[in-house]
Amino acid sequence: MRTIIEPFRIKVVEPIRMTTPEHRETCLQEAGLNVFLLHAEDVLIDLLTDSGTGAMSSEQWAGVVRADESYAGAISYYRFKESLTAITGFPHILPTHQGRASERILFELVGGAGKVVPNNAHFDTTRANVEHSGAEAVDLPIPEARDPRNRHPFKGNIDAEGLDQLIRRVGPERIPLVMVTITNNSGGGQPVSLENLRRVRTICDQYGLPFFLDACRFAENAWFIKMREPGQQERAVRDIVRDIFDLADGATISAKKDGIVNIGGILLLRDEKLFEDASNLLILTEGYVTYGGLAGRDLEAMAVGFEEVLHEDYLQYRIRSSQYLGEKLLAAGIQIIEPPGGHAIYIDAQAFCPQIPREAFPGQAVVCGLYRHAGIRCVEIGSVMFGGPGREPPPMELVRLAIPRRVYTQSHIDYVIEATIELHGKRDCLRGLRIVREPPALRHFTARFEEI
Ligand code: F0G
Repeated sequence: MRTIIEPFRIKVVEPIRMTTPEHRETCLQEAGLNVFLLHAEDVLIDLLTDSGTGAMSSEQWAGVVRADESYAGAISYYRFKESLTAITGFPHILPTHQGRASERILFELVGGAGKVVPNNAHFDTTRANVEHSGAEAVDLPIPEARDPRNRHPFKGNIDAEGLDQLIRRVGPERIPLVMVTITNNSGGGQPVSLENLRRVRTICDQYGLPFFLDACRFAENAWFIKMREPGQQERAVRDIVRDIFDLADGATISAKKDGIVNIGGILLLRDEKLFEDASNLLILTEGYVTYGGLAGRDLEAMAVGFEEVLHEDYLQYRIRSSQYLGEKLLAAGIQIIEPPGGHAIYIDAQAFCPQIPREAFPGQAVVCGLYRHAGIRCVEIGSVMFGGPGREPPPMELVRLAIPRRVYTQSHIDYVIEATIELHGKRDCLRGLRIVREPPALRHFTARFEEI
């Protein structure tokens, strides 16, 4: 049998509703042409993010009911800790309410003015938290990552030479840690190889620097390693995952991705002193160390979700769904970041509507176009998200179609393919935009636009 099916059946359904083009136009205008400001009930297929939007399993819901809501030392905390210890091997595991809470605690402790944090590619909140501490966030993707057509199997790799040069140039004393994001989200959901991670470990050891992972999509990254890295094909994903975590001194994780939960985050640490300091900050701003701003039921859902994400039939279906969407768009002449990423497909917006200059946000034009045409919501990852006064423009103008975990069926994805191809057919009608109002940081969430 060649067909890869969804490895689950559906027990609870949630209706979605089609809207008229006139209604969508009104909604979009009221939202200032920013899809973050839409009401979700006006969206038919929501590909805004794969974060916190996954469907929990019957086992996870059973955990929700079973949960212990004690303030300190809850049974659910110990279940969570046991599951994460078995998977990651880390001695210190702190729950937080989501990924950016782990980032905020970490960079409040190690960041600060004059510091420099290298990464293959910081995601928006990671960059914002590094910068909020006063430090500088530096992206070091490999050169292949800048070419959407390049099919490098590990396009998420960090430029190891560039990393070494940066450390020499600014001096190791100014670098509190080296971070690698798996998979690389702002660069196309592309994986990082074990070989590249080992290389980073060696460089960090050479200069005495800690190595941290932003490990939101660690299981998807491990699946790509199993599929693509020489010598890894016969290994269990669980073992590859363990190899990845064994290389690191710490990790921030948003459990809303590969934890397959609606809320939750983790901070993993080896260093005793850093753990003590992080625990104190956690208590100050998130909650006691055995719940970290979450309910016991959230900890139960994480304990089960992090196990389920390692099931290889799940990962095969997951990565195949993204690939299916990506290959169909490519076949229709729509340029995406190749090869297709793990959690999302990234359309090259400059190739989609070459008549719109970068200053007029071609990605945002495609995002508005897809919502108008078919009620599909996706997100711009380009000059709206990463540009702005005093910032270097990002390497590419992208539109991300992120796929929530276990939520949409193949016919939903077929609808997305059809709609995107139809929009591409009338791409000459897409118009550029300008920003009329924006906040000082993370502007894409609340900025308002008008069409030029
Ligand atoms: N790191 C990466 C690589 C992420 O993709 C995200 C979130 C975070 C950190 C922050 O985690 O949302 O739990 O605070 N990415 C989401 C997205 C929001 O749409 O890609 P969080």
